[in-house]
Amino acid sequence: MSNEALIFPDREALSRAAAERLAEVVEAVLADKDRMTLVLAGGGTPRRLYELLAAAYRDRLPWNRLYLFWGDERYVPADHPASNYRMAAEALLRRVPVPPDHVFPMPTQAALPAAAAAAYDATLRSFFDASEPAFDLTLLGLGADGHTASLFPEDAPHAAPADDGPARWVQAVTAPPRYEIRPRLTLTLPALNASRRVFFLVAGEEKRDVLRAVLDHAGPTLPAAHVRARERVTWFVDEAAFGGV
Ligand code: 6PG
Repeated sequence: MSNEALIFPDREALSRAAAERLAEVVEAVLADKDRMTLVLAGGGTPRRLYELLAAAYRDRLPWNRLYLFWGDERYVPADHPASNYRMAAEALLRRVPVPPDHVFPMPTQAALPAAAAAAYDATLRSFFDASEPAFDLTLLGLGADGHTASLFPEDAPHAAPADDGPARWVQAVTAPPRYEIRPRLTLTLPALNASRRVFFLVAGEEKRDVLRAVLDHAGPTLPAAHVRARERVTWFVDEAAFGGV
């Protein structure tokens, strides 16, 4: 597994570079197999990337061969302003011809988030098989506290295997009190780290300290510092977050 960090003048340049690299990864993956699996990130940074994919890259990407998943979700209805699904639907899904049965939102209707997590885990287990063990590309953001997806520094690593077998891929968690929406679903580290490729999208001066800690391996308790990939982790960072050091 290799890592690379690419630094850009601003969020727009970061987003444009990530869109181009994502298109290249799509083309490379689909040269070898029929379908490609992509995990979408939540939060705010990826929105511009999604808008670019829906516009400048709409006709370049083979949407009927892409399958979309989420790395985490706030446990709110899909039309809630805080929903990661809603952000992706507005910026991307409603503007591209991806078949609806290729889109796998994290379910947030069940009364208990733990039941929703188990359902999504089962969805993933039935989707993948030995020939295609996990996601081709996973998009992630970085919180100023070092969280990624909804894996927070206060939580024990979610690598603990379930009693009856392999580590869970989906976990129901409660975000720390500083977050407005606390009930969440998240892919666990085993799921994230099973991805062939990972893109981190990091912009803004408020991420500078945590990004430095993660890149310098000085933050062993930071969930983002535990993310790996089977082939490569690529950091798309703007100057404000990188700090020019
Ligand atoms: C979420 C995201 C979360 C996000 C980071 C960075 O549900 O909030 O999955 O992990 O990626 O908080 O968010 P920004 O990109 O908005 O800074």
